[in-house]
Amino acid sequence: MIYPIVVYGDPVLRKRAVDIKKGTDVSQVIADMYETMYAASGIGLAAPQIGKSIRLFVVDGSSLEEEPELLKFKQVFINPTLLDEFDEPWDFEEGCLSIPGIRQKVRRAEKVKVKYFDADWKEHIEEFEGMKARIIQHEHDHLEGKLFIDYLTPLKKRMLKGKLADISKGVVDIDYQILAPKK
Ligand code: NI
Repeated sequence: MIYPIVVYGDPVLRKRAVDIKKGTDVSQVIADMYETMYAASGIGLAAPQIGKSIRLFVVDGSSLEEEPELLKFKQVFINPTLLDEFDEPWDFEEGCLSIPGIRQKVRRAEKVKVKYFDADWKEHIEEFEGMKARIIQHEHDHLEGKLFIDYLTPLKKRMLKGKLADISKGVVDIDYQILAPKK
């Protein structure tokens, strides 16, 4: 099932998502999240973006052809914990399916160490770097109620105010289904 993607202004994007009870069957929600993400041409999607305040996100970087290391980066992260974020921070223009039409430079650490469960509830502790680390940081932020625009300077935020207000009213030019809080 393809869910509409919840956009900026909806309180669910600002909540800290809750842990999923170990062993819970989340296979349907995972399948739905992939389907929803592909329909919107995204490379990552966190559960709050489909209105579910649970600690789960999915990624698939294989559509980013210019980033060969992402080709096989298709993974499910359940109850993830960022144990460490380290090494030289770098800037990259990020976007988000919940904030359509806005891309801004965000500075993030080069590497992350993350503890998570996979779709079979197997626990992993793993390090990721570069673009993979960035995607994980972005999606993990969603589970903390944080959005990439929170990193912008007050001036940049002011400049985007009108656009953000439009997004929350559903006034956006995109080809995927959204759920706008002020529509
Ligand atoms: Ni996002």
